[in-house]
Amino acid sequence: MSEQIEPKVNMDTLVSLCKRRGFIYQSSEIYGGLNGFFDYAPLGVEMRRNIKEAWWRDMVHRREDIVGIDASIIMNPNVWKASGHIENFTDPMVDCKESKMRYRADQLYYAPVIVDGESIGYVSVIESPDMVEKATEQAEGLKRKLAKQGVLNKIELKEYIEAGKDEFEQIPSPATGKPGSLTAPRNFNLMFQTYVGALRDESSVAYLRPETAQGIFTNFKNVVDTGRVKVPFGIAQIGKAFRNEITPRNFIFRSREFEAMEIEYFIPPDDDIWQKYHREWIDTRLDWFESIGISRDLLGEDVHPKEKLSHYSRATTDITFHYPFGLHELEGIAARGDYDLRQHQEHSGKSMEYFDESRKERYIPHVIEPALGVDRTFLALLCAAYDEDEIDGDKRVALRFHPRIAPIKAAVFPLVKNKPDLVKKAREIFKRLQHRWNVFYDESGAIGRRYRRMDEIGTPFGITIDFDTLDDGTITIRDRDTTKQVRLHENELIDHLSEKIDS
Ligand code: GAP
Repeated sequence: MSEQIEPKVNMDTLVSLCKRRGFIYQSSEIYGGLNGFFDYAPLGVEMRRNIKEAWWRDMVHRREDIVGIDASIIMNPNVWKASGHIENFTDPMVDCKESKMRYRADQLYYAPVIVDGESIGYVSVIESPDMVEKATEQAEGLKRKLAKQGVLNKIELKEYIEAGKDEFEQIPSPATGKPGSLTAPRNFNLMFQTYVGALRDESSVAYLRPETAQGIFTNFKNVVDTGRVKVPFGIAQIGKAFRNEITPRNFIFRSREFEAMEIEYFIPPDDDIWQKYHREWIDTRLDWFESIGISRDLLGEDVHPKEKLSHYSRATTDITFHYPFGLHELEGIAARGDYDLRQHQEHSGKSMEYFDESRKERYIPHVIEPALGVDRTFLALLCAAYDEDEIDGDKRVALRFHPRIAPIKAAVFPLVKNKPDLVKKAREIFKRLQHRWNVFYDESGAIGRRYRRMDEIGTPFGITIDFDTLDDGTITIRDRDTTKQVRLHENELIDHLSEKIDS
């Protein structure tokens, strides 16, 4: 894993920029919101579309070995029985009986406080980059409160799930600071339940999908039979997924409704080849993040230890990102073996075998799964793009989005708004660009202020129509990042922008 990198922006600044400039709002805000749910605002919705479009273009259209599907969100509940989600898709949960707060046991840490070799109590903290410092402060507080002299041992934090029965009574709740109110961890299934049809009983229970992957596995045979695909090949899907997360947090990093972009890449079952495909996919996905503007030094690789693997996985590597709150998962790339297809074959009674013409052999393919969230990509792109600098002594905020990702590709400005010929020409150029891209027209305020407004929302190009335009048809294009301007003929404009935007 790479070193912690000093973030360019903190989460409060980012969340407030998102609200102020119209990227993301809290869901149902006028009613106080709903924890773990968000709405994408006018700029946010454009950026989301661009992320999905870039992924689909690069992972599906620009490859010959991947096709797409769009499965339903609610599926036959037997899908989730077969996949293991009903039994295993759980997180360990802990309740504070006094405050009614709920925690994920694997994100709650505790430590005994030891002074001169003698335990004087416990401290507890919620996972954060500075949790050791926080726990040490608490320990010093406890030592003072109990008037203990002596040397405080270094605080050694452990996950709450590791606590012994005799320790539950002594560990304080992070909410109240009092020992004894935390419950033992118990498993909590993260799937949202609903009912299909008019009856509300056991027979009509269904689930909102917690991942899009199962819609791909259940359609594997359909795609093979209709799609002229040959192993190795992949099926891609973008769609909403729902998880009743115990502790949704860090804005859109962990929400209860999110959108996934997943590929199931089917490979032959030979034991010695899956590592090669797994590595290839990790590299492909790292390259992709770089291609959309997330530099390599902000990314990392986290290989899951065997004991932390999901129930279906034989190996998983997360691509991690340096968020302002620490280094965390951006995308998971799992080698799922033949677990899912075999489970569905067993539970449905339908064969999931594939006939490999070239090998004249039948087998159940194995699978490599690169699985990424749209929302987490959104957050990573915002963090990577955020920058503050100074232009002519003025502080400015710029979101340095790659032009493919930027919600607005270019803004068109008449130099002044009280010259009808200039305004007419600017509107004409604006309309021409609108046929190709999402562009913006702005005639209000000083030109410098108009540039800054666009910098703050990440618009890469500012096109100014001035008096020379009326004489010789030339316009200026200002680059958001360098603030340099070039002068071009208006007939060259579309080609110039297209080369940068449609890469
Ligand atoms: N089919 C495999 C699967 O779902 P996962 O690691 O649980 O794997 C894949 O999820 C990706 O989906 C994650 O890497 C992350 O980008 C995104 N994701 C997962 N849970 C999320 C949540 N609660 N909120 C936002 N994004 C989430």
